[in-house]
Amino acid sequence: MPGLTLFVFVLQNFPLSMIEHDVIIIGGGLAGSRAAVEIARTDPRLSIAVIAKTHPIRSHSVAAQGGMAASLKNVDTEDTWEAHAFDTVKGSDYLADQDAVAILTQEAPNVVIDLEHMGVMFSRLPDGRIAQRAFGGHSHRRTCYAADKTGHAILHELVNNLRRYGVTIYDEWYVMRLIVEDGQAKGVVMFRIEDGRLEVARAKAVMFATGGYGRVYNSTSNDFASTGDGLAMTAAAGLPLEDMEFVQFHPTGLYPVGVLISEAVRGEGAYLINSEGERFMERYAPSRMELAPRDITSRAIVKEIRAGRGIHLDGSAGGPFVHLDVRHLGKERIMSRIPFCWEESHRLVGVDAVHEPIPVRPTVHYSMGGIPTNTDGQVRSSPEGLVDGFFAAGEAACVSVHGANRLGSNSLLECVVYGRRTGAAIARYVQNRKLPEIHEAYYIQEANQRIQTLLDSRGKNRVSTVRQAFQDCMTDHCGVFRNESVMQEGLIRLQTVREQAADVYLDDRGKLWNSDLIEALELQSLLTVGEVILTSALNRQESRGSHSREDFLERDDGKFLKHTLAYYSPAGIEIRYFPVTIAQFQPQERKY
Ligand code: FUM
Repeated sequence: MPGLTLFVFVLQNFPLSMIEHDVIIIGGGLAGSRAAVEIARTDPRLSIAVIAKTHPIRSHSVAAQGGMAASLKNVDTEDTWEAHAFDTVKGSDYLADQDAVAILTQEAPNVVIDLEHMGVMFSRLPDGRIAQRAFGGHSHRRTCYAADKTGHAILHELVNNLRRYGVTIYDEWYVMRLIVEDGQAKGVVMFRIEDGRLEVARAKAVMFATGGYGRVYNSTSNDFASTGDGLAMTAAAGLPLEDMEFVQFHPTGLYPVGVLISEAVRGEGAYLINSEGERFMERYAPSRMELAPRDITSRAIVKEIRAGRGIHLDGSAGGPFVHLDVRHLGKERIMSRIPFCWEESHRLVGVDAVHEPIPVRPTVHYSMGGIPTNTDGQVRSSPEGLVDGFFAAGEAACVSVHGANRLGSNSLLECVVYGRRTGAAIARYVQNRKLPEIHEAYYIQEANQRIQTLLDSRGKNRVSTVRQAFQDCMTDHCGVFRNESVMQEGLIRLQTVREQAADVYLDDRGKLWNSDLIEALELQSLLTVGEVILTSALNRQESRGSHSREDFLERDDGKFLKHTLAYYSPAGIEIRYFPVTIAQFQPQERKY
């Protein structure tokens, strides 16, 4: 049937019209899904699409383990939202915007109950109420959880609800460009991974919930899809990125693979032990010990390793990791509260945590910075200006509730609180608006050319080799501890990596499921994000939260109690600053 084949070919490659929805959300994880549900609940007539490079169920949110903070008072009856807000602001090293934190912590109990009503299977107390556990930097037991698979439990219910509300899902589409014209976001250019088909999608509002960028580094708890594409597309559209110097290292990445061993393990009572058998957190955070905030705990582990008190695989001193010991908790508690962490250790490094300590060291986990938004999730173009039709929430966004260091279990909370708020704001925003005009052919041609250039490239370097060189550069030059000369060298080395990236070849030159091509596009995102991180870090001449400078040891509120805005362009990055919102909590010395 050659006629039919030709017809199908034409339809697939030359679509008759653009994809159109009232709202398109890029990213199907917790923030994106929660926003979609809220839009549908607010106005069921709206046409909503979620576009994601994986199936929503495989978004990185599914890997979240330890839980979601909310002052439900089920365990610690004296807890309050104000205490949660104070812990969050102190944890942020006073860089969080306190209006945004107040919203986060006030709305927390309500969003947890709403999730429960959707069917999320939280772990329970003996009397049937939602259980709550201790987490780092929180003064009360307020983290609600589903064993150590909390993200999995929440995301499954939210994705079920996407179907229930009739949200259109474009899964395994790679979004490669955000279309912003005259200060208005109008749509995106997207690429179907299955067959390379290009489409322009237009909408009255575009939301980015594209997650983080853990793959900028060579050890991360993040999945392979966390390549910062949303951040890079935002930067490429001439919009700023906020506070990108603040990279969270989770203290307990499983050595050597880097995957997460949840903070819930320490919340349940695990010890961190060095080669001398000491619970070394006594030296760094005597009042909180293993439940100090992550920036402090990660630095403590690196200091122990640097001082020769790390451990080798044969048990001798001087090695690259420390031990996380849960043996005293007993098998029953390990298997009921943290079964996944036991399984990961057993399956990935052959350690049976009931009988042996787990080898851990810090691994890149989370981005405190991101796309700047107001508390309705609308994206900022500058400290005063907003972008029409453009919204963001979740890890991709910076609202900013985490400031310079996020407390564990505040991230799922942020996704749900600000996913919901942003969804509600979008539902209001799109009322009585028309779909924007877009010159579709121009954008298709531009995207096609970008892809064809990669497919035709006959350079010297494999994409994976360049990505590794890039990750090594970021790991060596912008890690837990930083200083000016090391970061300057990093920027020079990054330039060399950029030259290598411009001289690549692809093993696969086809368009069907070409993962080499996707990785080449992702590499371009990673390079942009890495350069913004390094440049923002170099310019912040103080130590605050996760940004620890060996040449500027103190926090400097006089000069740097402010947010960074980095405007990327291929010619260079412009850094500006804008004030932090301080409300009820005046900055103090941060001690634990
Ligand atoms: O350690 C964890 O379970 C991670 C939680 C979080 O990042 O909030």
